[in-house]
Amino acid sequence: MSEKKILIVGGSGFVGWNLASFLSRNYPVTLTWHRTLTPHPRVNSVQFGGLHDKDACVALVQQLNPSVVIYAAGISDPVRAEKDPAVMMLTHTNGANHMLIAADYVKAKSIFISSDYVFAGIEGNYHEGDTTIPYNALGKAKLSAENFIRSRSLNHVVIRCAPLLGRGTLDHPSWLDRLRDPMASSKKITLSRKQIHNPVHVRELATAIDRALQYDVRNKILHLGGLTRISEYDLAVRFLEHFGLGADRVVPFDSVLEYQYQDYSLNFTQTLKLLKTEALLLEQSFDLL
Ligand SMILES: NC(=O)c1ccc[n+]([C@@H]2O[C@H](COP(=O)([O-])OP(=O)(O)OC[C@H]3O[C@@H](n4cnc5c(N)ncnc54)[C@H](OP(=O)(O)O)[C@@H]3O)[C@@H](O)[C@H]2O)c1
Repeated sequence: MSEKKILIVGGSGFVGWNLASFLSRNYPVTLTWHRTLTPHPRVNSVQFGGLHDKDACVALVQQLNPSVVIYAAGISDPVRAEKDPAVMMLTHTNGANHMLIAADYVKAKSIFISSDYVFAGIEGNYHEGDTTIPYNALGKAKLSAENFIRSRSLNHVVIRCAPLLGRGTLDHPSWLDRLRDPMASSKKITLSRKQIHNPVHVRELATAIDRALQYDVRNKILHLGGLTRISEYDLAVRFLEHFGLGADRVVPFDSVLEYQYQDYSLNFTQTLKLLKTEALLLEQSFDLL
């Protein structure tokens, strides 16, 4: 067990909970939760609703005194993000900034979970140094938090993730959990055929963080994605067929607004070299579910 203590802010969510579960095998982990909690036997948990309050964030972090603060609070669905600017501002901008300031007080490494939506989605295969031009609210909020962290912190890692695959909790089911939910099997799900990402299993994010801590990676942006570039619609169909479930209720989104392809895929060659990790095909990620 490493002596590095990890604090995961937003640890009750799909991403945070999976990170806590994986990383707690090698590190002492504490997570924060706000409204919901699925307890984990190896993980300490603290209820915390003060992301809007810088002093409360500093007090929490000083009390727990972690070596690493992973920020995994917020929204991952771009449609919900557009509808909820207040939560977006609170969790992605203010909360991330306050927790970064708090991490600096105790000289902890800050790890920020960002998204491929910081890019415009025109070219795809985005490298770390490519120009970021976010079009949606989620991408804009992520980029603003990234810029704050990069301008202020001397010990940070920003990980831009493609959509993450995995199993969530009862309160925070993953997108794939919702797809195979038998209770919802009669409902149609409309998905885009023209928005392309290269999804990656959430375990790969945990491995990347583990390696970044082992190699003490500092002040870097890392890209994390999988080997398969695929639309939301095709991903859902392949997932359901892989598990022998009918894909009839998944229908393609048919809108004049979707007149062109948007490719948000991330190039992650630099991450593989730096962290000595391996990339997975989509079916390999399905096998981990
Ligand atoms: N999921 C993905 O595919 C993906 C990909 C790239 C990046 N990300 C990023 O990863 C982060 C987590 O995503 P997720 O999929 O895990 O979302 P999620 O399952 O909805 O979890 C959201 C987390 O944020 C916390 N939270 C929300 N509002 C809060 C508030 N006002 N105060 C304190 N905590 C609050 C929730 O706590 P409670 O439930 O306890 O209230 C929960 O722990 C997001 O920033 C997202 O943009 C996700």
